[in-house]
Amino acid sequence: MTPETALAHADSLIRTIPDYPQPGVLFRDVTPLLADATALRSVVDAMIAPFAGRFDVVAGIEARGFLLAGAMATAAGVGLVPIRKAGKLPRPAAAVSYTLEYGTATIEAHDDIADGTRVLLVDDVLATGGTLVAAHELIGRLGGVVVGTAVLMELEGLGGREAVGDVYSVFTA
Ligand code: PRP
Ligand code: MG
Repeated sequence: MTPETALAHADSLIRTIPDYPQPGVLFRDVTPLLADATALRSVVDAMIAPFAGRFDVVAGIEARGFLLAGAMATAAGVGLVPIRKAGKLPRPAAAVSYTLEYGTATIEAHDDIADGTRVLLVDDVLATGGTLVAAHELIGRLGGVVVGTAVLMELEGLGGREAVGDVYSVFTA
């Protein structure tokens, strides 16, 4: 299977669920993709490729970003920085609050990276961009340098790309 065929297969496994978690929201469920070995490997490789050799750690955003970030860090041979929802870390060094497509949230991180560490920021979905903008800010406060941002899926028409700026997305919906 070529990388293109594997990615097309992965794309076909993303399930769209209307009115979840609330009316009017089209939920993109990637669990069927994650459950398929070839699909998972293809998207992990695709999210690393544009930044290969240019980052020191992957920073993944709780919760669904973790599903990809850990696999990407292992595949790329680098470490992992978890960006967690508020109240989950014992020694958060920084916290940033943001507005979500449905609700508000705060993310936090430990300062386990040296100043100047090159960070590849990872999440599953880009919607309004609020989460990734907050994560950029958080990494900056830790002294890290965001050298790239990768998501599995970009939802168009919600202003995410305009808010975040340069972001690589494997799939667009
Ligand atoms: C979802 C998704 C992204 C974010 C995208 O996370 O996983 O992290 O929303 O939306 P945005 O671009 O408008 O910020 P959410 O916090 O809803 O849930 P999760 O904890 O399951 O990842
Ligand atoms: Mg999330």
